[in-house]
Amino acid sequence: MSDKSDKAVLIIDGKRYELPIIAGTEGPRAIDITRLYETAGVTTFDPSLANTAVCRSEITFIDGEQGILRYRGIPIEQFVDKPNFVEVAWLLIFGRLPNREELTRFSELLTANELLHEGLKAQFQQIPVDAPPMAILSATLNNLACYHQQFLSIEDEESFEAAAARLISKVRTIAAFSYRRFCGLPFIYPDPKLRYCANFLHMMFSIPYQQYVVTPEVEDALNLVFILHADHEQNCSTTTARIVGSARANVFASCAAAVCALWGPLHGGANVEVVEMLERIHAGGMTAEECIRMAKDKTNPFRLYGFGHRIYRNYDPRAKILKEVCDRVFAKLQRKDPLLDIARKLEELALSDPYFIERRLYPNVDFYSGILLRAIGFPTNMFTVCFAIGRLPGWIAQWREQHIDPNNRIVRPRQVYTGLPETKYLPIDQR
Ligand code: SDX
Repeated sequence: MSDKSDKAVLIIDGKRYELPIIAGTEGPRAIDITRLYETAGVTTFDPSLANTAVCRSEITFIDGEQGILRYRGIPIEQFVDKPNFVEVAWLLIFGRLPNREELTRFSELLTANELLHEGLKAQFQQIPVDAPPMAILSATLNNLACYHQQFLSIEDEESFEAAAARLISKVRTIAAFSYRRFCGLPFIYPDPKLRYCANFLHMMFSIPYQQYVVTPEVEDALNLVFILHADHEQNCSTTTARIVGSARANVFASCAAAVCALWGPLHGGANVEVVEMLERIHAGGMTAEECIRMAKDKTNPFRLYGFGHRIYRNYDPRAKILKEVCDRVFAKLQRKDPLLDIARKLEELALSDPYFIERRLYPNVDFYSGILLRAIGFPTNMFTVCFAIGRLPGWIAQWREQHIDPNNRIVRPRQVYTGLPETKYLPIDQR
């Protein structure tokens, strides 16, 4: 019998209200306020939802104090040895590890759906050459709804798996085509003989009559980058997908909206900011010490990108793994990157600085991911696109979890109104 209370008591204007306390498998308990306004006539105020659980979920568990991240109960460290992004995508979406037959079938479904409709491919020619790849990604994911209208409404598992396969497979082709368009290179079609990540690298970096050679270390590294980004419970972009999906909007629109949220520099766009920050330091624009000073200066909007996290008050376990993978890939490619040395120096300065220590600011997933993607050959403007490719199964899994929940209701928060009291309309000649 737990010694913890299962009720919270609220006293407002001398009146007592009892609120149930919800406990999950692990993690903080939650005060259930679903009937608060109805019974007490008040709402709660939590603008960034930092103190608010918006759903029950079985997909991902994070312990920010301990630096723990688990997908369907499995610690992410257990995916490091034989990283298989397609297997983890299936695990997140369907709730358990696929058996051999299920994994083979899903892989075949991805292969069967890797091409874009030629009409959709033609749209790339209308896009400005220097268009931001995240804008192209969001727009084209949404456009998939035009070519796969049978998935505008999904009411059975088979249709759902088919829609998920189209999204997860085609996102690579869309990303690669946007890169090729940006570089003025011919589009390289997917090769059905290649595995998921190898095929993406092929579409990105092969040139006609000269196939890109995928090394096992790079293929494993990209699988791991996608796995480490695959889901992260109710982060900004995932909650966006849930909010859009709560209106019964289709899965393409919900994922397209999530891409827009991820684009933000405080969220998935941070991996671009990190490398640009490191490049500025390398170019002599500033020193690592100046970087730390600016990050601490409240009058300066500069932040130490790649540091800090709403949930992790310890080292982001993903950053820890990515840092080790950087070493492995750099050794294999016999590559050195001064940016990696600068990143290490920045981390050392920050982790010994009282400002960062007091605020429990540690490297997050974005601090090393860009350096690794750059070593593989991705340009900076493709970093957040790679984050989105990794996160797509997480958005789909969370969207599905809400979609099949019989208690799902449209998300419609309240507010505290601070505007004018009732005011008279004034004819224009009296204003
Ligand atoms: C991702 O939510 C997720 O799970 C996201 C993500 C995922 O997988 O989906 O993990 C991916 O988005 C990682 C985060 C990437 N963003 C960055 O690296 C941008 C830099 N980091 C910060 O902007 C910030 O740490 C956030 C946005 C990540 C978290 O912001 P919070 O929780 O709102 O924290 P805060 O802004 O309230 O900061 C608390 C204090 C403040 O100082 P005080 O007002 O208390 O004096 O810490 C300071 C902040 O100024 N602070 C930083 C800082 N991060 C926080 N100061 C300098 N540099 C930083 N990076």
